[in-house]
Amino acid sequence: MTPVGDASAGLDPLRDGVPLGPPWSAGVTRGDDGAVRVAGLDVREIASRFGTPTFVLDEADLRARARAFREAFDAAFAGLGGGADVYYAGKAFLSVLVARWVHEEGLRVDTASGGELATALLAGVPGEAIGLHGNNKSDAEIDRAVAAGVGRIVLDSLPEIDRVADAAARHGVRAPVMVRVTPGVHAHTHEFISTAHEDQKFGLSLAGGQAAEAVERVLARPELELLGLHSHIGSQILDVAGFEVAARRLLELRADVAARTGYLMPELDLGGGYGIAYLGDEDVPPVRDLAEGLADVVRRACADLSSPPPRVSLEPGRAIVGPAMLTLYGVGTVKEVQTGAEHGPAVRAYVSVDGGMSDNIRTALYGAEYTAALVSRAGGAATRPSRVVGKHCESGDIVVRDVDLPADLRAGDLLAVPATGAYGRSMASNYNLVPRPPVVAVRGGEAVVVVRRETEQDLLALDAGYAPGTRAVPGLGS
Ligand code: LLP
Repeated sequence: MTPVGDASAGLDPLRDGVPLGPPWSAGVTRGDDGAVRVAGLDVREIASRFGTPTFVLDEADLRARARAFREAFDAAFAGLGGGADVYYAGKAFLSVLVARWVHEEGLRVDTASGGELATALLAGVPGEAIGLHGNNKSDAEIDRAVAAGVGRIVLDSLPEIDRVADAAARHGVRAPVMVRVTPGVHAHTHEFISTAHEDQKFGLSLAGGQAAEAVERVLARPELELLGLHSHIGSQILDVAGFEVAARRLLELRADVAARTGYLMPELDLGGGYGIAYLGDEDVPPVRDLAEGLADVVRRACADLSSPPPRVSLEPGRAIVGPAMLTLYGVGTVKEVQTGAEHGPAVRAYVSVDGGMSDNIRTALYGAEYTAALVSRAGGAATRPSRVVGKHCESGDIVVRDVDLPADLRAGDLLAVPATGAYGRSMASNYNLVPRPPVVAVRGGEAVVVVRRETEQDLLALDAGYAPGTRAVPGLGS
């Protein structure tokens, strides 16, 4: 989301060069020598110190995005009674330092597993500033959440109600909960569809009456404090139309429950899903427009229902961490391939990098579109149609499907792919026993390791048949 406040404020144009602009983070610049810097640190130095591939996080950009969300929602919801809370959705990318940084910027943290919950707690985020999601929470996850005093557990099924209430009883506490509702809205980028029924695993259906039943069952358990209703309508959404339908439907249920039982739920959570630029030419509304749009939706719906407005929360993940990271790759084999295609280029350069679908599955999984640039030097003027591919044994191992890259690109160059912060490292795998890349944050020219690089030793440590020291493997270490 743009603008991102003062993220580029610390940059010196003489030393650091010219900002590349979206989809690159605010601290990404190209110097006179043609090499790119992230927050003042040359990518060649990053590569020599940390190796490739590496996820490079622009800390000031991440913080500015977090702050922009909090400030925009504080301002937009200030006159609306309840106000607003922003939860950073840790599933996009979570580590102890990132949880701490977004919390320092005034965000809470939304977690979706025991591992994410443990990470937020280890970062020092107070339990009451953490939410827990999950359609199949284990007993251990529920127990950890209740013991840590999390601010909300989002209930996703009818059986979970008693499981959470029983855990609260065991701990002698009253657990704050929300009911996740499937409002029959699915939004994706510019479109949304509104249907009576959604054939998917999350939440309790509004149309089928399960959401209302869940509310009744929660109210019948004194160990639970019902904060409100929750919905999450999709991802990479670029306008508020889908949120409008979902918010109205949830607010209607809230008003019905109040009329029937006298209990007015104090909160409403509209989930995450706000989109970002991946290529740079997308029309991404500023976060202020989103906040004002959502405030307007809630204000009008509450006025129509004559209900006092609830405190509203939301859970952006991608919009905060996505644009703040790039992936730095080393270029290996470059091949020209005759495509034989009737449409598209007759010859395409296949540029192999030292990562691939193990650090970015989104292209293979969703057909996601990315761009890439040569970042270690200025390329020659001539470009050619190129495809950036990984090193895995699969022809679908594509990182960037179509991009024009300098025709003189060669082995040893560094290539960067922007906007990989969300669902890149967090969905990384060890396919082909490839260790996962580190995440290195840069601020004011200084780098810190956020997550270290995985090693072959790390992977072998899980292999019960491996006995260290018994067999020598060249280059493996002991
Ligand atoms: N809240 C809930 C309940 C969610 O399920 C999600 C995402 C979010 C918040 C955060 O959504 P965001 O603001 O990051 O879009 N792996 C996919 C995205 C899966 C999103 C799942 N839920 C991708 O790479 O596009």
